[in-house]
Amino acid sequence: AKPYIYITRKLPESVIDTLKSFADVEMWDSEENPVPRDILLNEAKKADALLTMLSDKIDKELFDIATNLKVVANLAVGFDNIDVEEATKRRIVVCNTPDILTDTTADLAFSLLLMTGRRLVEAVDVVREGKWKSWSSYFLAGTDVHHKTLGIVGMGNIGEAVAKRALGFDMRVLYHNRSRKLETEEKLGVKYATFDELVKQSDYVLVLTPLTPETKGMFTKEVFKRMKKSAFFINVARGPVAVEADLIEALKEGEIAGAGLDVFDKEPISPDHPLLQLNNVVALPHIGSASVETRTAMMELCCDNIEAVLKNEVPKTPVNRELFQLV
Ligand code: GLV
Ligand code: GLV
Repeated sequence: AKPYIYITRKLPESVIDTLKSFADVEMWDSEENPVPRDILLNEAKKADALLTMLSDKIDKELFDIATNLKVVANLAVGFDNIDVEEATKRRIVVCNTPDILTDTTADLAFSLLLMTGRRLVEAVDVVREGKWKSWSSYFLAGTDVHHKTLGIVGMGNIGEAVAKRALGFDMRVLYHNRSRKLETEEKLGVKYATFDELVKQSDYVLVLTPLTPETKGMFTKEVFKRMKKSAFFINVARGPVAVEADLIEALKEGEIAGAGLDVFDKEPISPDHPLLQLNNVVALPHIGSASVETRTAMMELCCDNIEAVLKNEVPKTPVNRELFQLV
């Protein structure tokens, strides 16, 4: 029999054509709304492969009933929605989409820097709302980005790509990472800092770490207090890396100047969310990798990975690399 592949969101037919040449493929019939849990579980029972979104929880309960499952391909670089340890125990391959989204996500991260520092959202609103009365000296005057200090927490490929952009703006770049990146330091002239030094010295603190037990809740009230009052907190990683209530307090109390956020504790947020009541917050709906080119490439990579596993080949970007003796 042909393998069965279930895709948890509607993708373009052109992208899934190759899968259809060797497998039965079904998709959840919505581009916007996540697949309901009961339908996902029901599909998982039959599926040889799942192509999943960040909004799908792929956990022990699912793996326990997914007796045919061989591969989960997640349409994201992050995979905190998947219990990889449980997958590995069952020799189920988990794949993500690193590298191809690096520059797109770095562009978005740097956009948030510019948007928060230069108050661009407030400025757009003022024009739209007919509140632009005249040119005046400190009217919507923001904070410079050029020649300021950027602190990158989590120096992977995306961090490196943001650093390149920052250097083009003559910024000084600090980074903090579990391991030092001597090659990156040498190549780009970025400087390693302890977490504490980075937090104290940066004008823009940019979070790019994956969400893990170690990074969860890393930004607390105490950390925000140690930041400069003029500094901005930018998060394009995962909401729970910061304690959201502490971030809100820091913004309200003026412990920091503002925040640029592409991610939140619970997504999506609604207009009555406390962060949206603050005019020093720029909020985006988790669109870090959302360019048409990159999202298409991510979908294609997910399909390639599924095809490889189902044909007993080594996929391009497995997360649990130990299944292929790659570590
Ligand atoms: C998006 O957040 C991703 O992990 O790709
Ligand atoms: C991931 O978040 C990275 O920095 O590559």
